[in-house]
Amino acid sequence: MKITAVLLAAGYGTRMKSEYPKVMHPLMGRPMVDWAMRAVESLVDAPPIVVVGHGQELVRSYLRDRAVYAEQQELLGTGHAVLQALPSVAQDADAVIVTYADMPLLTQATLRRLLDLYRTHASSPTLAIAMLTVKRENPQGFGRIVRRSDGSVAAIVEETDCTPEQLAIQELNPGVYCFHAAWLRQNLPYIPRSAKGEYYLTDLVSMAASQGRQIVTLEAPLEDVYGVNNRVHLAEAEAILRRRILERHMLEGVTVVDPLSTYIEDTVQIGADTTIWPGCLLQGATVIGRHCTIGPYSQIIDTQIADHCRVVYSVLEQARMDQGSEIGPFSHLRKGAHLGENVHMGNFGEVKDSYLGPGVKMGHFSYIGNAEVGANVNIGAGTITCNYDGVHKSKTIIGDHAFIGSDTMLVAPVVVGEFARTGAGSVVTRDIPAHATAYGVPARVHKVEDRTPPQGGAEE
Ligand code: UD1
Ligand code: CA
Repeated sequence: MKITAVLLAAGYGTRMKSEYPKVMHPLMGRPMVDWAMRAVESLVDAPPIVVVGHGQELVRSYLRDRAVYAEQQELLGTGHAVLQALPSVAQDADAVIVTYADMPLLTQATLRRLLDLYRTHASSPTLAIAMLTVKRENPQGFGRIVRRSDGSVAAIVEETDCTPEQLAIQELNPGVYCFHAAWLRQNLPYIPRSAKGEYYLTDLVSMAASQGRQIVTLEAPLEDVYGVNNRVHLAEAEAILRRRILERHMLEGVTVVDPLSTYIEDTVQIGADTTIWPGCLLQGATVIGRHCTIGPYSQIIDTQIADHCRVVYSVLEQARMDQGSEIGPFSHLRKGAHLGENVHMGNFGEVKDSYLGPGVKMGHFSYIGNAEVGANVNIGAGTITCNYDGVHKSKTIIGDHAFIGSDTMLVAPVVVGEFARTGAGSVVTRDIPAHATAYGVPARVHKVEDRTPPQGGAEE
């Protein structure tokens, strides 16, 4: 069975009170339309047809070639919107799924069940529509499903057109349909114009019923068909998506101490036996290994963290931490920061575009930028790489086992040799040879003694 999907995303979204189209408002790091697309994309081979109108440049530039676009120049209702998509529906399509892009919680599973229902009835020569329904005590905002005494569907009546009896109906239209393609082609152009001057897609249901065509329904979980019309709905929908993602991680072995205060985007990967403390935001292409402790209160974006790491009250962006390293409280890894194995980075530190070799200790308020720091280097409190002269960024290289005294200014470009030491408060403007001790302003070399540990001997 060949299926084409149509997603309606042309509306104004007036109640969002926004400069941006409703479907571009983000939930868990992705625009609403992205979530809606993912549900349908998994079920069709060809890219879905997205009907765009208001704010279409943003929608198009976000989805790019994930979709085929149909432009709705005048917003004359959902029926009119689907009509614009019709020329793009594959000639040999058997069925057309239509859904609305303001339903970010629709799952693949529910859509798949609707398709299965359609397939089950597909051999019937009269089948016209398979659609989801939903039951809700407060039906406000939905079209009502009107049934005949034999239980068959007679119509969907829009709220504004309901009689008082119809208003009380609690079986509602979420707006997810699977149409028989040929029947849709024949009938879509004949939807009558409503009192409001719109062409309601939902009128196809009464048209099918009056032709004696079959309409089959499937009740969807209420949560799946949550429609976002304003920013209160947006926050509620996001909370549900957030919980779904957290549950997936928890079931895979991640401890989330306080799900209510934890925000993890669905792109993030986390190993088992890692604990996420309250107040964490884990975003983008972040990958976290096993047995880590993350948080409390940390933001981690596009960062790779190996096993057995610890992050406390810190912000990490496009960085990397190797096994056993730790950071925080109150530190910052910026783009290109890479902490080697077992690095200890304490409070009020910042690292950017730098590699800190295995075992480096950087305990207190330091800035390391554009640097390569060897293994087991001690970076004293207040050390700063002066990497920027106002025009150029320059590099600092520190050899293995060097000891950088507190408050050292390393004026780049500069090289500190292995086992070298700097005295407290030094301003290092020239390279320091291996094993040398330098101090002063500007720093001068005062002595050189071989500090290589004897072969086989223990360090310290
Ligand atoms: C629609 C249904 C209603 C259903 C409800 C569920 C119709 C006539 N009514 O009403 O039965 O209970 O959804 O939420 O379909 N859109 C366009 N072009 C248009 C108008 C709308 O692309 O000219 C798009 C919107 O961007 C939106 C979707 O269609 O994604 C639904 O439009 P909306 O105006 O929100 O419909 P409702 O009044 O909620
Ligand atoms: Ca709506």
